[in-house]
Amino acid sequence: MQRTHTCGQLRLENINEKVTLAGWVQRVRNKGGLVWVDLRDRYGVTQLIFEEGSTAPELLEKAVSLGREFVVQTSGIVIERTSKNDKIPTGHIEVKVSDLEILNVAKVPPFIIEDETDGGDELRMKYRYLDLRRNVVREKLQLRHRMMQETRKYMDAQDFIEVETPVLIKSTPEGARDFVVPSRVNPGEFYALPQSPQTFKQLLMVSGFDRYFQIVKCFRDEDLRADRQPEFTQIDCEMSFVDQEDILNTFEGLVRHLFTNVKGIELEEVKRMTFADAMKYYGNDKPDLRFDMKFSELNELTQNKGFAIFDQAELVLGICAKGAAEYTRKQLDELTNWVKRPQIGAKGLVYVKCNADGTFKSSVDKFYNQDDLKAWADTMGAEPGDLLLVLSGDEKSTRKQMSELRLKMGEDLGLRDRNVFKPLWVVDFPLLEWDEETQRYHAMHHPFTSPKTEDIPLLESDPGAVRANAYDLVINGVEIGGGSIRIHDRPTQQLMFKHLGFSDEEAQKQFGFLMEAFEYGAPPHGGIAFGFDRFCAIFGGSDSIRDYIAFPKNNSGRDVMIDSPSTIAEDQLKELSIKVNLKDS
Ligand code: AMO
Repeated sequence: MQRTHTCGQLRLENINEKVTLAGWVQRVRNKGGLVWVDLRDRYGVTQLIFEEGSTAPELLEKAVSLGREFVVQTSGIVIERTSKNDKIPTGHIEVKVSDLEILNVAKVPPFIIEDETDGGDELRMKYRYLDLRRNVVREKLQLRHRMMQETRKYMDAQDFIEVETPVLIKSTPEGARDFVVPSRVNPGEFYALPQSPQTFKQLLMVSGFDRYFQIVKCFRDEDLRADRQPEFTQIDCEMSFVDQEDILNTFEGLVRHLFTNVKGIELEEVKRMTFADAMKYYGNDKPDLRFDMKFSELNELTQNKGFAIFDQAELVLGICAKGAAEYTRKQLDELTNWVKRPQIGAKGLVYVKCNADGTFKSSVDKFYNQDDLKAWADTMGAEPGDLLLVLSGDEKSTRKQMSELRLKMGEDLGLRDRNVFKPLWVVDFPLLEWDEETQRYHAMHHPFTSPKTEDIPLLESDPGAVRANAYDLVINGVEIGGGSIRIHDRPTQQLMFKHLGFSDEEAQKQFGFLMEAFEYGAPPHGGIAFGFDRFCAIFGGSDSIRDYIAFPKNNSGRDVMIDSPSTIAEDQLKELSIKVNLKDS
């Protein structure tokens, strides 16, 4: 070994020991006859000291010549520091150097490699291998590592078998576009990269594996956001001979295990809410339950009092912001402008201040008297000191706008603490979702999801009302995972494809293998997949999953470090039987 200790290891009890360390030069401070070097590795920083008189002159010279990020190996004696640094674990000692070898020189890095850096996003991504030297970035990947180990531990203890499924496959519909890979030996034909291992895990159930899991890369060609990458990782799971309740309990176990063992937090009960209630009370299928601020429907109380905007609205919806009656005119104007931005799209905002003396002051005092406003406040459970915010319009947009406003108020009032975790199962999702663009129904989860038995008759009469045995795990307003009980017989699967607008031939061509497998003894089964990157980001208290991926893509789906995607040589295209003529397109 080229070192006896790491740079994070030495303490007062090591005083007088001869040690050898290796690492990167973080900083050199030269105070005339005294030189200090901060030596860094993954484990920490240790201060090296060189002193005129007691350090050999050539050694002192060498120390002064060190540049940032040089890689060195050094030996010396551990001594007690005269001026101690309580901020770092090695801050009470330093190493008086007797030997210093430069293992490799380094160019001046393009940004400062410390917790607070001067490097912008793009630059840090281009030199991601340097960014990864920073503690704050490395710690995020260490959290990811811990999550991965603890996931495997739990799943193995529960008898799940980890099986790898192929990456070069045929399209699996999860609602995004496929990334495709041309096949040289099959000219004109393409593999698709899996959007998830969905069909394979179901086939493994037919094979009798009973409990499967995999920590697996998935690929989706979709627009990027802070919580979406084109390649991301799932904890993908499937079980046989279970119903929805068994799955929710098993995976609540995983969530609990991770919270206990990675964060040291004992979770309280994981609440459950139907999709219908989530939409009704929070306007959103992934409500953030760190704060209440439920929606109240106010049509009856607000209509027919002469205020045309409310009278014409399909829905009048209010929320009560606790303790916000003190909002100034300026703050309320800002809030009104905020809801009127095109991204939110509200026409305006009505407010009612519930004054400390029990009176009310609203932006619609012309139309509503104190008794009217009191009735609103009572319905919304408001107390003196609270602020009521009311939006109106067509039902769908009003709920969506109010959901955004609720989240903003939660943020502004400091109710979305990153150290508080409120997990929730959202259950009873609709089976189908109407798509305006294609003018037909799509599977809300995926086409293998089973409808609730009692709702099957509605498939013909009212397809949009059919509920599925489908569920999502939501934590703090983020969809962390989703799954369902599957269809496991050919006739039901065929019926499902029919309702999704597939012809028999199309269904057979794309998913004949799965339907055939169902004819050879498929057990009842179901499962779930967690977005592993999102799980890590929530644990780390971050909105962006990029920080938890070693080499992520930027917002245009590019890896700016390796410069990918890129064009390929004419010869390679020819070999793949691909004609590209971008000039004409
Ligand atoms: P679903 O499509 O809901 O279900 O995906 C499961 C979870 O994966 C995460 N996720 C993503 N994370 C980062 N970037 C993305 N582009 C991205 N897309 C999805 C989300 C999501 O909840 N086969 C089914 C699961 C099943 O039915 O068992 C599936 O993939 O956190």
